[in-house]
Amino acid sequence: MTRSIAVLVFACFVMVGHSQAESAAPAAYTAKCQMCHGATGLGDTPAGKAMGARPFKAPEVVKESDADLLAIIKNGKGKMPAFAGKLNDAEMTSLIAYIRKLQ
Ligand code: HEC
Repeated sequence: MTRSIAVLVFACFVMVGHSQAESAAPAAYTAKCQMCHGATGLGDTPAGKAMGARPFKAPEVVKESDADLLAIIKNGKGKMPAFAGKLNDAEMTSLIAYIRKLQ
């Protein structure tokens, strides 16, 4: 279920148009994720490096399912803070779609 929603959101991104979809990060990403994971998801910010955030396109992250990513965003992992209660389901779904795009 979550997966099909993510696919749908991703399809919308693609349909919005290539140039726009290419650079458009969800507002929640810019506000809450970018300081650690970086604009392109490489984890190459000072905070990301200090905490050991992996690039989203690392093979270990690519092979995680959408449900795994959702659980990490909700519950946190290691030094990654939990976002349950801070983001709604639609925001989390769009973040997963964006992570997939960065991969
Ligand atoms: C304070 C820094 C910080 C913020 C803010 C942050 N993360 Fe993370 N994130 C991390 C770190 C560090 C890890 C690696 C955790 C580990 O493997 O121990 C991580 C891991 C992840 C992973 C799993 C990838 C992996 O390495 O297995 C996902 C997915 C993720 N973050 C998504 C997000 C999203 C989406 C947001 C914004 C809502 C976000 N993060 C905000 C620091 C952060």
